Amino acid sequence: MGSVSSSTQWERLIEEGYQRLNTNPSTPEELQQLKQFFTSKPNGLFARIQQILREAPPEEKRVIGKALNALRTAYQERWQAWKTVITQHAEVQAFPDPTLPGVWTTLPGLTPCPSHPLTATLNQICTIFMRLGFWIAEGPEIETDWYNFTALNIPEDHPAREMQDTFYIRVDDPPVLLRTHTSPVQIRVMEKMRPPIRIIAPGRVYRNETVSARAHVQFHQVEGLYVDRHVTIADLKSTLNAFARQFFGPATRTRFRISYFPFTEPSFEMDVSCTLCDGKGCAVCKRTGWVEILGCGMVDPAVLENCQIDPEQYSGFAFGMGVERLTMLSYRIEDIRRLFQAEWHWRVQPPVHVPVSPAGFHQKMRPEEEKPTEADKKE
Ligand code: PHE
Repeated sequence: MGSVSSSTQWERLIEEGYQRLNTNPSTPEELQQLKQFFTSKPNGLFARIQQILREAPPEEKRVIGKALNALRTAYQERWQAWKTVITQHAEVQAFPDPTLPGVWTTLPGLTPCPSHPLTATLNQICTIFMRLGFWIAEGPEIETDWYNFTALNIPEDHPAREMQDTFYIRVDDPPVLLRTHTSPVQIRVMEKMRPPIRIIAPGRVYRNETVSARAHVQFHQVEGLYVDRHVTIADLKSTLNAFARQFFGPATRTRFRISYFPFTEPSFEMDVSCTLCDGKGCAVCKRTGWVEILGCGMVDPAVLENCQIDPEQYSGFAFGMGVERLTMLSYRIEDIRRLFQAEWHWRVQPPVHVPVSPAGFHQKMRPEEEKPTEADKKE
């Protein structure tokens, strides 16, 4: 009788442990409480199960020991993920107030030079999403074929895998390459974290393209991923609409066109009303009044499964935007190559719409405050 009741008791404790592993602490204090819950002595969960283990009949010892070890391993993995998230959370909290005036850092006698437009745009995108509750995740620029393609449901014969599109570092065993998009970070995050997951992943990507005014071999993307229970297309649209209005201005209109990506279903491309002609039609929007800024969709269940997330319980959306495209739109830059050359011009081309200014420099960068320098005149 005694052994029956203690066996249900240890099972209950193990179960309770797994339930706790599914919670997400949001402050260092909560993190500490979770640690206490599992590891404190003599009343922590592990200690209590250990106690039952010690007193259990020999035939039960093996089962309890195995269950305890599995829970310990799961706890250690979650602990790492929790710690990363909490550290980042603290960084978000400590993020400088973007409304403070900027600080000019320059040598005496030189005209102050603001951030490179790409850096400013990237900061601006990150600031907006951090305010919406997203954390920042990063992944390597050198990836394996698994993360860049296979885990993302990209089939063997997909054109993106071809040598013309992808820079391969090693062709086999396993193939190693320069990532062609930031989507592999989705997989890396979903492997480590359990839902709710809400991250963006900014970073550099590479494609073997002929360099032209519109394409480059290196560019930047910001990936986004939100996985939780009951995430719907309404969440996807409202999040991206909120982003577009904060980035381009409150009057911005958006539209979602149906599209295809192997790792989202359904998939869309999002257009914003052209910021230059206000939707009337100009050269930048090719007279359509709309410009495409990102790809997005609901995370394909197969991708969730690849990361051991149950698609019956969870759903999510993902998106990926091109930072160069956004920068070119807001700074009216017509040739992508200019973003990768040393130039002075940035100072005379303020961004078109900048409601959020990371270092406060946009307020100062009105064109009338800018006097062309000798270098500018010679151009
Ligand atoms: N990775 C896609 C690309 O580079 C963009 C994307 C990201 C689409 C996430 C859907 C979801 O084109």
